[in-house]
Amino acid sequence: MIRFDFRSDTVTKPGADMRRAMAEAEVGDDVYREDPTVIRLQEMVAGRLGKEAALFVPSGTMANQIALLCHTRPGDEVICGRGAHCAFYESGAGGAWAGVQFEQTEEAFFGPDDVIERCKPRAYYCPNTSLVTVENTHNRGGGTVYPLERLAPLAEACRELGLAMHLDGARLWNAAEALGVKEDVLASPFDTVSVCFSKGLGAPVGSALAGPRALIDEAALRYRKMLGGGMRQVGILAAGALFALEHQRARLAEDHAAAQRLAEALRGVDGVTVGEVPTNIVLADVPIAAERVVEAANVRGVAFYPFGPKRLRLVTHADVVGEAFDDAVAATVDAFAEALAG
Ligand SMILES: Cc1ncc(COP(=O)(O)O)c(C=O)c1O
Repeated sequence: MIRFDFRSDTVTKPGADMRRAMAEAEVGDDVYREDPTVIRLQEMVAGRLGKEAALFVPSGTMANQIALLCHTRPGDEVICGRGAHCAFYESGAGGAWAGVQFEQTEEAFFGPDDVIERCKPRAYYCPNTSLVTVENTHNRGGGTVYPLERLAPLAEACRELGLAMHLDGARLWNAAEALGVKEDVLASPFDTVSVCFSKGLGAPVGSALAGPRALIDEAALRYRKMLGGGMRQVGILAAGALFALEHQRARLAEDHAAAQRLAEALRGVDGVTVGEVPTNIVLADVPIAAERVVEAANVRGVAFYPFGPKRLRLVTHADVVGEAFDDAVAATVDAFAEALAG
């Protein structure tokens, strides 16, 4: 039986207070834009991100896909960092629905020169580069945080080249926590921002896309409906997201501290390499097949995923960071040590 689940911060289950808030939520038909709880959530999210408006959507994937549809036309090219969620995951949706192709930079994070180098000539025989998207924190990069001082120069280059900017902020809350700034500071250079409530914040479902009111109320709303994301009495879910924002955003520092402790313990195992751990994601490199470590961990009631042939990803979150966290760390360290010794 799995006791300690480090597979993702998406595995958290709603507690009794959140469930109560959801059960008691005032609802209406959100396709008619009449759900008061959804409206309250959208206003709160727009406020926190410093944008005019926000739209509640079922998932981070849908928020990113709506952004692609809003900013691009079929045949366009999107510049993003290596391993960006919208290019690496999302089942090829960017190509299927928006009809775009991705130009990935060499690193997860990139600067103005990378954009200038990759933006195609404005010629009919080239794809039209129309959008730059940044992921913050960066999942495949290991929960890394885009350096604050690099945002303004990046935005200036995009402006000069006439490129729109989208921020995949599925874990923007973690980035803000790590930098000790408010989310709107990190969102400010971007035209649109997607955020998730169902990762470290612990809501069972839901994301939002924020941006200019005209874009959200017209294009984004239409694309959400086209993608099948128009939901009815969805205030029940929005109430979970509201609860998460109001009560669980503040505890992310605990996840980050726990990830540091876990990283430190793993660094003590011969053969394990762990880089910097800026937020709640630990990437551990081993000289053996990652699957062997996963198997040794499962036997000890610990779960995490391979993140490459010789790389493991372990994510801290509310359901694993608690009284038994020392036991979780000890069991994980034992699993790594046993797999590497064997
Ligand atoms: C950076 C990033 N963006 C987007 C998503 C997509 O979110 P969802 O799983 O809600 O579709 C994820 C999911 O893990 C993510 O890590």
